[in-house]
Amino acid sequence: MPKQNSIIYNCTKCGAQSAKWTGRCIECGSWGTMLQELSENQSADKRKIKIDKNQLIDFQKKQPENFSRLQTQISEFDRVVGNGLVLGSLTLLGGEPGIGKSTLILQISQQIKQPVLYASGEESASQIKMRIDRLKLPLQNLKFLATNNIEKIIAFAIEEKPSLLIIDSIQTLYSNELPSEAGSVNQVRICTVKLLEIAKKHNLSIIIIGHVTKDGQVAGPKSLEHLVDTVLYLEGSKTDNYRLLRCVKNRFGSTNELGIFDMTGQGLIEVKNPSELFFSQKQEPISGSAITCIMEGSRPFLIEIQALVSKTLFGYPQRKTAGFDLNRLQMLIAVLIKRADTPLVNQDTHLNIVGGLKITETAPDLAVCLAIISSLKNKIILPDTLILGEVGLGGEIRPVYQIDKRIEEAQKLKFKNIITPVIKTNKSGLIMVKNINEAIKQIF
Ligand code: TYD
Ligand code: MG
Repeated sequence: MPKQNSIIYNCTKCGAQSAKWTGRCIECGSWGTMLQELSENQSADKRKIKIDKNQLIDFQKKQPENFSRLQTQISEFDRVVGNGLVLGSLTLLGGEPGIGKSTLILQISQQIKQPVLYASGEESASQIKMRIDRLKLPLQNLKFLATNNIEKIIAFAIEEKPSLLIIDSIQTLYSNELPSEAGSVNQVRICTVKLLEIAKKHNLSIIIIGHVTKDGQVAGPKSLEHLVDTVLYLEGSKTDNYRLLRCVKNRFGSTNELGIFDMTGQGLIEVKNPSELFFSQKQEPISGSAITCIMEGSRPFLIEIQALVSKTLFGYPQRKTAGFDLNRLQMLIAVLIKRADTPLVNQDTHLNIVGGLKITETAPDLAVCLAIISSLKNKIILPDTLILGEVGLGGEIRPVYQIDKRIEEAQKLKFKNIITPVIKTNKSGLIMVKNINEAIKQIF
């Protein structure tokens, strides 16, 4: 039996669908937002579709395409997006309000030295002028458009033909085609689809700024990730002054790279040597501190791990972490108790990764264990010691990937004692350990 044509009601605020009309959306609770939409059966073209066999592509005959890229000269940014922005691509830059997205974009605009159109529905020209003056950027190549109407922005972009179009921010835009308010899921989506169309048609690079909000009042960048070519997030806390630029989706390159910037009075400054940022060799050595090396994409950098072990005064011992997986800490404590006879049963243990970083690797395991023992014994680990190795449940020390790169980074920074798992390598001066007990003996 053929399928019946049906009517669907769509909430213009949150996108929820319903077969029946309701005065109030059952999903988001907004009043009067349910509008009738034609279902696919109804709107589909019933005429026979003509087929052209040339539309089928044979990859054996297809020539590889060289994408032209817009380099920004800001190497931290170029590396993250894969050696520059691809012409005709749509990039989403997400981040919490006030993290520095607009600042980064202005600095990029300065560097590409090609015509840029900056459309903002968020800030007035004088607000932006103030930021430009603060950043001391001449920005002769930038034209500003204060509007939040997407049709107007597109008309200007087609007329002006810039190399880069910047939208700040997508949540303030609206299209005339929809009655819902700016920032609703449907508005954000339709505006992005329209931008995608002109990006491809006019070979125009577009960067869309999107706010990530915790309460979900406005449609977040998450709802757009599938539409765009590249997704970047600018992260960092407002109390620290460094910012991490992370790529979570990239149709033209890898997503492993991390860009690091320092937010200063003169805007964002690239951090070329991140090891300097996350630990400083100048400090007085204290017990409970160990240095290890993590990999972020292709770059190694050194970080400091701090542990504080103190006698439990009441009830169960407390185990708390900042920047490290709590379950992994519990496991490492169990290994220390069982395999190295460490008396941690009635000790509170706090673990902190200096600089607010979050670690997801297992390479710092051994450094975590030794930081804990250092705090328990109240004995320092010599400051020129670097510790690498994953710890297994048997107390054995396992290899970590890209260990040569990590060792090189440590040697560059003049570390003398480098503790590693047993590995085959041509590097000299390493102290290789088989298990946790050997490592403890070497250090203390
Ligand atoms: P902004 O780029 O406006 O953030 P977003 O667009 O992500 O909302 O940056 C706002 C913050 O950055 C603001 O708190 C001030 C700070 N800032 C500096 O510290 N130095 C600078 O040179 C500039 C321009 C801003
Ligand atoms: Mg902004």
